[in-house]
Amino acid sequence: MAKISGGCVAFTFLCLLALASMVKVGLDAGGGHDYAIALRKSILYFEAQRSGVPPPNQRVSWRANSGLFDGNASGVDLVGGYYDAGDNVKFGLPMAFTVTMMSWSILEYGKQMAAAGELRNAMDAVKWGTEYFIKAHPEPDVLYGEVGDGDTDHSCWQRPEDMTTSRQAFRVDPQHPGSDLAAETAAAMAAASIVFRDTNTSYANLLLVHSKQLFEFADKYRGKYDASITVARKYYSSGYGDELLWAAAWLFDATEDRSYLEYLAGNGDALGGTGWSINQFGWDVKYPGVQVLAAKFLLQGRAGDRAAALQGYRQNAEFFVCSCVGKGAVNVARTPGGMMYHRRWNNLQFVTSASFLLTVYADFATMSGHGAVRCPAGAAQPFDILKFVKSQVNYILGDNPRGDELHGGYPQQVHHRGASIKRDPSLVSCKEGYSRWYVRKAGNPNLVDGAVVGGPDEHDGFADERSNYEQTEAATYNNAPLVGVLARLAASSGGLLMEEDDQSLTRS
Ligand SMILES: *[C@@H]1O[C@H](CO)[C@@H](O)[C@H](O)[C@H]1NC(C)=O
Ligand SMILES: *[C@@H]1O[C@H](CO)[C@@H](O)[C@H](O)[C@H]1NC(C)=O
Repeated sequence: MAKISGGCVAFTFLCLLALASMVKVGLDAGGGHDYAIALRKSILYFEAQRSGVPPPNQRVSWRANSGLFDGNASGVDLVGGYYDAGDNVKFGLPMAFTVTMMSWSILEYGKQMAAAGELRNAMDAVKWGTEYFIKAHPEPDVLYGEVGDGDTDHSCWQRPEDMTTSRQAFRVDPQHPGSDLAAETAAAMAAASIVFRDTNTSYANLLLVHSKQLFEFADKYRGKYDASITVARKYYSSGYGDELLWAAAWLFDATEDRSYLEYLAGNGDALGGTGWSINQFGWDVKYPGVQVLAAKFLLQGRAGDRAAALQGYRQNAEFFVCSCVGKGAVNVARTPGGMMYHRRWNNLQFVTSASFLLTVYADFATMSGHGAVRCPAGAAQPFDILKFVKSQVNYILGDNPRGDELHGGYPQQVHHRGASIKRDPSLVSCKEGYSRWYVRKAGNPNLVDGAVVGGPDEHDGFADERSNYEQTEAATYNNAPLVGVLARLAASSGGLLMEEDDQSLTRS
């Protein structure tokens, strides 16, 4: 019992769940996860990250109005959007990646979300982002990419509702380009336009107009956004080859317009999409995402006479899959407990994003009849890929070896300003937040329900301490890809096969 209850290193709520199911089903250490509840909470988390005016149906009740003057000093309305992690800055690049991945989750597994009663919540989470991007893009060649800055923000520890820090807004434009930022925002709006196509066509069309303009702006005025928005450099520095390809791929997916396919096919070498084999996918590096999307176009027969050019992407997508599941020439490292491991600081972002790509790749392979992925160290069957994904998700949900070192049972001290300070009518000042709340040894007064924190180190070690931001800070881009994976697992009740194969599931 201690092992299980203590094992919930990553998902703040599920550990409660693990406890509950332990009581119910006894000592079945390997199973018992309720993926549908996990799905619900993983979407709920986005409400805790909202900036602006929470809507009447807001469920996370410890959040209220914040950032109401964002953009005002620049003469633009930038109220809304998401705080990306445990601080109160609105960083455009990770916010856009979050919305892209949330949208992709819905596009692949929306049916499963609907079955779990969560599609509406997931779409609302996307819209909270796209409403902001529309505001942040007031002219074709102008995009606001950040409100607030890390340095002044981090000198204070305050709830977003109380913040007294600078809310300066930063933008890119033709004289100060930002191709990575603009292209990722274009990708997000293109992917979201597909999400809304059936339910709100005019909104979908509006998103597409913004997306096309942003892609053109990104491509025409090339440059890294952190050279223009220098306050982003220490926090979310990127580079734009991958984002340009990613935006083109999403625009092709959304419009079927050949010019975007030509862009993807014609720039694969120049922008690194076909040359780069890489086994990490996240807010900075999108190559594996582009490669999986391009492979999808191929498998769906949408590449036409550009099929040969997309093969290079597909090979790299398979390199990614093989190296994640341990059948590559070079493999992603794993902790003794089996978690994919890339780095100390917020490792779980790479676990969730890889899990998503693996899930969709396995399902594409099955659906298209291609079956196994041929890896250097042998075939990877879709079933085995999904089984591996499930092991990663279960690790996050509590099946991990050193869990019993975590006496709280789940992260109590998530590094999160809003969660760590009790909601109080009186303002908690900049430094008071540190002296009264940050240093407390007790758990947070507010639960960041459903948040995926940074997670364990290479030895599966995890210290549930507020100051341990490398491990206890959650981020929106950790959750967004997991939403799709959880929907997939919830629909098959943890079984791994496609719906049409359910009988073989019972047989196996
Ligand atoms: C924004 O600023 C203008 C003038 O600077 C002011 O009139 C307006 O009320 C402000 N809007 C908000 C929402 O604060
Ligand atoms: C479509 O979205 C817009 C923008 O949020 C909204 O004002 C409108 O009511 C929506 N229409 C439908 C049919 O949902």
